[in-house]
Amino acid sequence: MNRGRDGCYIGSAEASECKTLCGIVAGISEEEIAPILLEGLRRVEYRGYDSAGVATVSEGKLEIRKEVGRIDDLESKYRASGMKGRTGISHTRWATHGRVTQANAHPHASCEDLVAVVHNGIIENYRELRERLIKEGHVFKSETDSEVIPHLIEEASRTGKDPLAATLSAVRQLRGQYAIVAMFRDHPEVITGARNDAPLVVGVGEREMFLASDVLAFISRTDRAVFLDNMEVVEVTARGYRVFDTDGVEVEKKPTQLAWELSDLSKHDYAHYTLKEIHEQSVTVERAYLQDAGKLDSFVRALRGAESVLLTASGSSYHAAMLLKDRLNRDGIVRCDAVLAGEFEDTAHFLDKGTVVVAFSQSGETADLLHAVKVARGKGAKVISVVNAAGSSLARESDEVLTLNCGPEVGVAATKSFTAQVMVGNVIADAVVGKSTVGDPAAVGRLIAETLATEEKVREIAKLFRDRPDFYFIARGHHYPLALEGALKLKELSYIHAEGMPASELKHGTLALIEKGTPVVVLAPGGEGFESTISNALELEARGAEVIGISDKEHPVFRHRVGIPPSNESISPILEVIPLQLLAYFMATERKNDPDYPRNLAKSVTVR
Ligand code: F6R
Repeated sequence: MNRGRDGCYIGSAEASECKTLCGIVAGISEEEIAPILLEGLRRVEYRGYDSAGVATVSEGKLEIRKEVGRIDDLESKYRASGMKGRTGISHTRWATHGRVTQANAHPHASCEDLVAVVHNGIIENYRELRERLIKEGHVFKSETDSEVIPHLIEEASRTGKDPLAATLSAVRQLRGQYAIVAMFRDHPEVITGARNDAPLVVGVGEREMFLASDVLAFISRTDRAVFLDNMEVVEVTARGYRVFDTDGVEVEKKPTQLAWELSDLSKHDYAHYTLKEIHEQSVTVERAYLQDAGKLDSFVRALRGAESVLLTASGSSYHAAMLLKDRLNRDGIVRCDAVLAGEFEDTAHFLDKGTVVVAFSQSGETADLLHAVKVARGKGAKVISVVNAAGSSLARESDEVLTLNCGPEVGVAATKSFTAQVMVGNVIADAVVGKSTVGDPAAVGRLIAETLATEEKVREIAKLFRDRPDFYFIARGHHYPLALEGALKLKELSYIHAEGMPASELKHGTLALIEKGTPVVVLAPGGEGFESTISNALELEARGAEVIGISDKEHPVFRHRVGIPPSNESISPILEVIPLQLLAYFMATERKNDPDYPRNLAKSVTVR
């Protein structure tokens, strides 16, 4: 292994164990693999990462190049694209515990450099495994939990086991959450992988095969994928793949044709993916409306037959779920509640066979949500879900699935997936309740396009307020989740403190914080609640706040106003959120933040 060359590898690691939110891209091809892997890594860059690495095998040598920083650093410092070999593995690491060091970056190799491994997840029993391996003479170069894996595989290989058998032997000893890919110095014709509670997908190409944590990693090479399930191990060669359970019994798995297209991954003329995805909403909302009639019918039957309905999700998906909760309760067909996925186990006590749990997620890989689903299932509840990533863990663990159909969302902040979720929520509620509130989806697209024309106005507002330390967002009733969404988006992209709250709650404490110049975004579309919200805005104005109104109506209290077209309660949230997304985006660019990759955030939060 070329460890010393170019200073690719540093001596000792001091980090404690880490949890990782990582991207895995591995493959075997008839072409040189390193450039293909780097392109794949760039496509999963959106997941967030702090270090990156590549390993290839060629002429009996295993070579690793890894570094703290961006994929571009790996290329500029170590010329990773020039690495020799047609078999390789690569990784982006996102450390949440422990230091970010070169030694802790992946791939990790076994002591005799027989095996290199990349890993996403947490090995819970790594301390005991590591102690035993050290006693047996293994030398560790990092302090990550992941490094036990190549040592375990090497140990099994030394007893004469082939790559698949050695991987199975290692996997049987692991406890925890993982997606793993291993590569073998003496078997360049094969890579192996395993998954448990972390995504891993096989990409089936023409005389080339891939293993990755996300289909985006290989979508430019193939649109056929095999989604692995938990406790499955895979053996991949350039010509094919075989999947096994952990007892080594082969499992038949057929490839799925992916619907996402490569063109969805281009920024086109936009400066950032986030802005492109905000603009795409006039089209994606219409696509979200078009649901398979049979699937929708199963969803509706499940909801109508439920004794109670519990919606669950995280972040923006939760805000979309809150809107559906409101709609279903308002129409009184079924009793419905919403709980954050991370709070599910501790608060969802009254679950039983009569409960239907509805899970909302863009990625379908959010660990808190997958855990909530496991808890719900354990209590006998039915689980139905609304996801963007059709082959995701959530989709596969649900009894019924509706998809958002909004294409890959690359910007870390949820934008088009949120409006698609709101639209699918409307479609579900309309079908359950038996009335149409959406009307013509193309007309909704036109209303979105009209709202997007406020872009310049929102940019001016962002310029005015870019240096304010705090922002507040208020709304009433059905509009309240939008106040939460506006605050979340602003925090994520601008790093400014922001709070979203019911307008009615202001006087119970928060008014104390309002001073001259404090920006407060008031979501006040005409209709129910308008007058009461305006009263709150007047209270704010009297205390010096700069009221930024988002409304289809004019009012003197609005110091600044972003006009949205009039609509009904189902469509209004989709329009209200657009100026909020644009505000967060322009606040980020005004403050020189990268809106596509905000600090400390990962697109799919795959650890709990
Ligand atoms: C907000 C955002 C996150 C996600 C949350 C859930 O802009 O991106 O808050 O909404 O992590 O992710 P999914 O929907 O993939 O389960």
